[in-house]
Formats: sequence, C-alpha cells, structure tokens
Amino acid sequence: MKIAVPRERRDHERRVAATPYTAGKLADLGARVVVERGGGLRSNFADRSYRDAGAEIADTEAETLSGADVVLKVQGPMTGDEGDTDELGMIREGAVLVGLLAPFDRRSTVDAYAERGIGAFAMELIPRIARAQSMDALSSQSNLAGYRAVLDAAAEFHRALPMMMTAAGTVAPARVFVLGAGVAGLQAIATARRLGAIVSATDVRPAVKEQVESLGASFVTVEDEESASAETEGGYAREMSEDYKRKQAALVRAHLARQDIAVTAALVPGRRAPVLIDEDMARGMKPGSVIVDLAVEAGGNCALSRPGEIVEASGVKIVGFHNMPSRVAEDASALYARNLLNFLSPLIDAEARRLNIDWDDEIVAGTALTRDGAVVHPLFANGGG
Ligand code: NAI
Repeated sequence: MKIAVPRERRDHERRVAATPYTAGKLADLGARVVVERGGGLRSNFADRSYRDAGAEIADTEAETLSGADVVLKVQGPMTGDEGDTDELGMIREGAVLVGLLAPFDRRSTVDAYAERGIGAFAMELIPRIARAQSMDALSSQSNLAGYRAVLDAAAEFHRALPMMMTAAGTVAPARVFVLGAGVAGLQAIATARRLGAIVSATDVRPAVKEQVESLGASFVTVEDEESASAETEGGYAREMSEDYKRKQAALVRAHLARQDIAVTAALVPGRRAPVLIDEDMARGMKPGSVIVDLAVEAGGNCALSRPGEIVEASGVKIVGFHNMPSRVAEDASALYARNLLNFLSPLIDAEARRLNIDWDDEIVAGTALTRDGAVVHPLFANGGG
C-alpha cells in the first residue's frame, strides 16, 4: 500500500499533510510512505527527517503520486483548469484522497472526483462526535487561527495590550471584542486574556456564554426567542432572521465603538459568513483600532475586509490575512497530520497491508464524498451542495 504526500501547491499554503512523526506511524502500519521532495519545508520539516522516520522522498509530484493507493493532502489537488499542474489527473483511478477538500466552495471538484473514480474524503465533514475528536481538523486548525489572529492584531496595534504601571505613567489595558465564540473565537479570547487585555465576546448560540465567562471574558448578546434555537443539532449556528440581525447590529455598533481590537470568527457552515461589522461600524471605531477578520475567505464578517490585505479606513486597520492556520504552519501541520493519521489508521488493515474501509461507519459515511464513480455524500449527491 502506497501513501503519497505531495507538496501543497495552492497559494498561501505552507502546511503539509504528514510530518515525519505521522509518516513513521503510517510506515509502521505497513504502508510505503512517499513524500514529495521539499513537501514539508515550509512547515520546517526536512526531507531528511521524513527519511529517518521511514518514508521515501520522490523528486516530482508525478513520481510521488504514481500508483498511490492513498493520497494525503492539506487542500484539494488542483485541476487542469485551476493552474498549470493538473494534480488531480496524476491520481490513479481507485485511489483514496483525504484532505480539506472544500466541497462547498469547490462543488465541481466533487463531481470530478467521482468521474475520475477517486474515493474522496473531506476532513471538514468529520462528524463532531466524541470518537472523532482526535480527527477534527476544523477544530485543530481553528484553534491555531484564533491564537494567531490575536497576535496579528497586537502586531498591527500601536499600543500595548496589558495594563502597565510605570514610573512614567500608566498604560491602560486594551479592549478586545471577539465576534463568534466557536473554537477560533474561544482561543482568541484565551490568547487576548493571556496578553492582559479586557476581553468581551458575542455569539448567537446561548450555550457559549458559560464558556466565554469561564475564560475571563464578558458575554454580550441579543437574547430573544430566536436565539434560544440558534444552535443546530450538530452544534453549529443557524443563519439568523433579518429581525435578529437588526438587533444584533445595534448591540455590536454600540459595543464596538468602545473597543480597540475586534477579532471576528463567525461562520455558518456551507454559507457566506454573516456580516457583523458594516462599513459605518468599522469607521466608528477609534483611530488606531484593529479588526482581524478570520472569516475573510468565507466572504468576511467585516464589510471592508479584503482577502490578503490590510485595509485602512478612518484610521482603523482591517486585517484580512489569507489562511490563518498556515501562519502557524509547523503546529498546524503537526496537528492536521495527526488528525489524518487518526482518521486513516482505522481504515488500514495492517496485517494484510491494505485498506479495509467500513462504509457504514458514521465517520466514514460522514466524510466520504465519492465512491466507485458516484457522489455518495447526502449533502452533495443528486447535484446537492
Ligand atoms: P464555526 O466555525 O462554524 O462558527 C464559529 C462561531 O460563529 C460559532 O460559535 C457560531 O455560533 C458563531 N456564529 C455564527 N453566526 C453568527 C452570528 N451571526 N453572530 C455571532 N456569532 C455567530 O463553529 P466552530 O468553531 O467550528 O464550533 C461550532 C460548535 O461546535 C461549538 O459549539 C464547538 O464547541 C462545537 N464543537 C464540538 C466538537 C465536538 O463535540 N467534537 C469539536 C469542536 C467544536
């Protein structure tokens, strides 16, 4: 059984789908692990370390992928119409592909996987059940993104975050407001608190209040009949009504005007991110304030944010960096690679040295996009998604 780990080729991507540690573990399971030369470099993993762990290094992507039974990726392989390299075309029919395949954003690739007879598994669809926690790539990556967002905000902010009492006078603590207190938001709260800021947060899901407060932040929210049912069975937020959005906007506007830093991390799965800070609200912050929009690639929580840019408006900086987890690439790769290892291990029959997939398993069924030439995931089958 050959497991291939190509170098990631999409823009702004520094991560890699296997580390020397996970490559070694997969080799222990009887696999031949082939990593593309330089694949781990941007996450600080040298070819030599993979080799020492029992993996092989291949010179080209074609060589890496040739005849592979399993392909491990961070992001989905490029198709011929996306770039100069048709990565998808190099994956053999019948192979299994596992990665953050962005099936909602790149719906057509799901059909392409089926047409090519590839068994594709989307890591962002790992069900949020206790058994799958160690495979939960959205959580592992969001956690680091939330951490990094606060550091990026602090770097763009021209004041200190903690209170400092010095002989020359007292520096007031910064006020940080986190909008969307999921995994990323909660880590942003914890990080801002560690840096000594006064932190507040908002979310539509009432269950979050306790978590926010336990981290030492205050919780501000609209409480009405609708908010009581804002959480879906899967633990995610629903898209809220226009009436709720109006109430929320009034609350955010008033609160934001007194803040120094806002970190926005509000997402609704499969939809455009909700706009929580409009242009007026952003411009209404004090000059020197910073907004870091973690949802920028999903359309943005702030109306002014632009992917890959720091926009300045009325003295307020709106930071919209691409791919926040990739800005902490070494840790992000290490955790993601562990997520993949934990997902893949139960699918491998180590004695027979081959894949043995139980398609009825909840985790397998929840993540499988395609199988035997067909789109099988309930969200995407029959043209859905
Ligand atoms: P997410 O990335 O989909 O969304 C981030 C946050 O934005 C969520 O807290 C959501 O409620 C909030 N949000 C959405 N629309 C909003 C709006 N209009 N205004 C304000 N906030 C808004 O969510 P994430 O971070 O993936 O976590 C979702 C839930 O799943 C959380 O309850 C988390 O604790 C839970 N979870 C459970 C796991 C498990 O049981 N294995 C693992 C990881 C997370």
